[in-house]
Parts: sequence; structure tokens; C-alpha cells
Amino acid sequence: MYRSPSTLPEGSRGRVAEALNARLADGLDLHSQIKVAHWNIKGPQFAALHPLFETFAVSLATHNDEVAERAVTLGAKAFGTVRHVAKASQLPEYEQEVTRDMDHVRLLADRIEAYLKGLRESRAVAEKETDQDTVDLLTGIIVEFEKHAWFLRASLEG
Ligand SMILES: [Fe+2]
Repeated sequence: MYRSPSTLPEGSRGRVAEALNARLADGLDLHSQIKVAHWNIKGPQFAALHPLFETFAVSLATHNDEVAERAVTLGAKAFGTVRHVAKASQLPEYEQEVTRDMDHVRLLADRIEAYLKGLRESRAVAEKETDQDTVDLLTGIIVEFEKHAWFLRASLEG
């Protein structure tokens, strides 16, 4: 561990950074999956969903950067190569042959919910280590991605 402006003990910083790296792997994986959906989607809902998926990807890229930089701020390293992510991500692989619009909505809703589960687990680690700032960072991501999951589920219901 490197020096950090954080006042948390080194052990706490290490455990929180590990939890952040787990979510960085998931977030980078999810970003690539959203782009695959953005590129391959076809069907009557294309005009609404193609740009919607792009807004998810742009926002997630920003959050991934924040998560990585929080880990480094805490004195750790951030791990994010494609090969590392392929091993470390907890999300299921995307079905890249899918084209139909509502199939992409279902696939992305499932994966955003898996991402949210991991975010809540990492937030619980930060809570246990009394790292309120990481808790706040992860809560912001959770609030936003719960909204995205709602958009997708609402498109599938009714
Ligand atoms: Fe695009």
C-alpha cells in the first residue's frame, strides 16, 4: 500500500480498495456489454434504445474512473486491463449474437442487477471499515443504476 491522504488504517484502506477493484472489473465488463448492445440492437425500439444504451455507457465510464481513482487514492493500485477484467468480473458473459431490441433490454437489465448486487456488497465493506466517502461514492452509482434498471424493466412490463 502507498501513502494516502485518507485517515483510515492501512488494513481498512486495503480491504476497501479490494472491494473497489472488484466493482471496477464488473463496471468495465458491463461497459463493454452495453456497447455491444448499443451496436447490434435491431427492431422497432431501435430509435429509443440505441441512444439510451449510449447514455448508460457514457455514465458508467465516468463511474469506473471514479472507482479506480478512489482505490488509488486509498493507497492501492487499480486493475483494469481487458484480460484482468475477463478473469475478475462477476457478471455473466453477454450473448453477442442477440439482435432483437427487447432481448437486449432483458440481457442488460439482468446484468445491471448483477452489477448492483456487487455494488451493495462493496458498499457494505466500506461501511464496515467506516469509509463514509467510499460509501457515498458507491451510493451515487447505485441510485443511478437502479434508475437505469427501472427504465429497462419498465420497457419489458405492461
Ligand atoms: Fe455509438
